[in-house]
Amino acid sequence: MKKALSLLTVSAMAVSMLTGCGSSNTTATTAAPAATEAAATEAAATEAAAPAETTAATEAAAAATEAAAATGDVDLSDKKVGVCIYQFSDNFMTLFRNELQSYLESLGFKAENISIVDGANDQATQTNQIQNFITSGVDVLIINPVNSSSAATITDMVTEANIPLVYINREPDAQEEERWKADNMNVTYVGCDARQSGTMQGEIVLDLENKGDINGDGKVSYIMIEGDPENVDAQYRTEFSVKALTDAGVEVECLDDQVGNWDQAQAQSLVANSLAQHGKDIEVVFCNNDAMALGALQAIEAAGETVGTDVYLLGVDALQEACDNVKSGKQTGTVFNDHISQSHSAADAAVKYLTGEGNDHYIGCDYVKVTTANVDDILASLG
Ligand code: BGC
Repeated sequence: MKKALSLLTVSAMAVSMLTGCGSSNTTATTAAPAATEAAATEAAATEAAAPAETTAATEAAAAATEAAAATGDVDLSDKKVGVCIYQFSDNFMTLFRNELQSYLESLGFKAENISIVDGANDQATQTNQIQNFITSGVDVLIINPVNSSSAATITDMVTEANIPLVYINREPDAQEEERWKADNMNVTYVGCDARQSGTMQGEIVLDLENKGDINGDGKVSYIMIEGDPENVDAQYRTEFSVKALTDAGVEVECLDDQVGNWDQAQAQSLVANSLAQHGKDIEVVFCNNDAMALGALQAIEAAGETVGTDVYLLGVDALQEACDNVKSGKQTGTVFNDHISQSHSAADAAVKYLTGEGNDHYIGCDYVKVTTANVDDILASLG
């Protein structure tokens, strides 16, 4: 079990957003999830929040004790938890679910009472799994939906069975979250505000001496490799990474914008195509996650280019391998998507439903920028 970092509770709003290479690509209007603008605009403040290992360890221990104390008379050893993950093969969700399993056990749940299932990226499969959990009589559900847009249906199924529900990682839209509040449902969402991660990617570029303008032509020419566009994390990271640059008065040029579905192999082939077409005109490769940044790096190296001199490369998540690449200069930076804090908060929220204490309908957390300056701290906190 790992150490937890700090939390930030955030509120609701809806926006419409632009994806793709500006006007030349698609414009998507999206019902945004509940989250705070402050988290995005004040992203710089969290820079100072790089984890000090001892503090994080103490915080984690305190949180575990607090959660254990909060269980009061409730014996967690006979409580059944159902966990639905959208896809086991996702690198980030693998870290998340392993940490969730071990933290639930540390709180007193028995391993045989924790059932974690793979939705195989198929909503029909996952809906079936949820139905089976309901029939088998689980006490609480933790769900990482395949499609965030299916949340209303899922919520209805679960709450009609009187089972409390904790959504993780893929945030339902603001209208759905409003309904939990209005109808006083035992439903919450645990996650970070993806706008903040996008903003931080842009800020890492702004902090470079040339602000990303490697060839000195007065603009930053970039390509964007997006995660699953149904997922608000992909939408917001795409928008806010570039917005950080334009907000700072930096001119940008989008050379390519492609969907890599959070996947390393897809990203590798997309970036290889882009490099074949645009070559050294590409100054920044923004990837919505680190798995895709790892694929991008393979393509960059295969094209004979070097990160740091020919091109800059950004990801999100702080996967161990990506952090190693940041340390050795093969990736310019990443943004820590704190799976430790998120999995612990999700488990703590499940416990609070079981004890009757209940939860807010949104439980947030902060991202952390990762560059050579703090990568050792982040690697240490990953364990
Ligand atoms: C992570 C991605 C992951 C996705 C799954 C995002 O928050 O950054 O790595 O694939 O969640 O929904």
